[in-house]
Amino acid sequence: MTDGVVRVGDTVRRPVSASTPAVHALLRHLEAAGFAGAPRVVGVDELGREVLTYLPGATGLRLESVTDEALGRLGGLLRAFHDATLGFPLTMEGWEGGSNDDQAPEVIGHCDLTPDNVIFRAGAGLPYALIDFDLARPTTRLFDVVTTLRHWAPIADPVDRPPLLRNVDVGARLRLFCDAYGVPARDRRRLLELARFRFHRSYAVMRTRAAAGGNWAQMWAGGAGERIRRAAAWLDVHEDELHAHLV
Ligand SMILES: Nc1ncnc2c1ncn2[C@@H]1O[C@H](COP(=O)(O)OP(=O)(O)O)[C@@H](O)[C@H]1O
Ligand SMILES: [Mg+2]
Repeated sequence: MTDGVVRVGDTVRRPVSASTPAVHALLRHLEAAGFAGAPRVVGVDELGREVLTYLPGATGLRLESVTDEALGRLGGLLRAFHDATLGFPLTMEGWEGGSNDDQAPEVIGHCDLTPDNVIFRAGAGLPYALIDFDLARPTTRLFDVVTTLRHWAPIADPVDRPPLLRNVDVGARLRLFCDAYGVPARDRRRLLELARFRFHRSYAVMRTRAAAGGNWAQMWAGGAGERIRRAAAWLDVHEDELHAHLV
């Protein structure tokens, strides 16, 4: 997605953006809090790129990354990340915008935990770190849980899922993730409603971004909006059955 992300030895170089200062402050806060599941900030290089530590392992969906064990570990990792952000100021300024929960923010959410933004240990295959905090921002715990489940349960029409997730039991995976995170009952009851709300919000946000051109316009032209619409329709059809796994 981001042009010009490269590895240099044991570092990664990425172009900076308006939210880089906020992201670096967050990564430093995580380091001070003892959270090991995120890159460290090394600084900015002579070309003006941000320099982060390279985290070894694998990203993307593979057989090992769609197991119940991996999903449970991811739920625990997201929980540990949210808990480690506590104490970080929840002001909205300085972050990249995006769709969000209507409720008051509780933590800094990652807000983009796609399979490409989770690092799995080589070999054993379990997730141990989160990368790419470009869309991080203050939000509720549940909003970030929903965003993560959108990709990992997944909350998506089977025609749009990666083959490895096409035939999984989504309801069982929602519950497994919520158990691993420790999502309280009141949030579980609101989860699918928030997922539906998020689909409508993301659709509007992406359409606006696409109108400005660049990578977002390409994603939109590639059917991103239609995939959101199909996911929302799929959720409507299956909502009662999925909800039964959460109550
Ligand atoms: N700190 C890092 N450690 C290891 N791999 C990384 C790191 N940062 C990025 N990568 C790799 O580069 C890919 C793209 O980088 P990312 O930061 O996610 O940018 P974007 O998704 O915007 O292109 C990631 O999916 C991952 O494979
Ligand atoms: Mg990424």
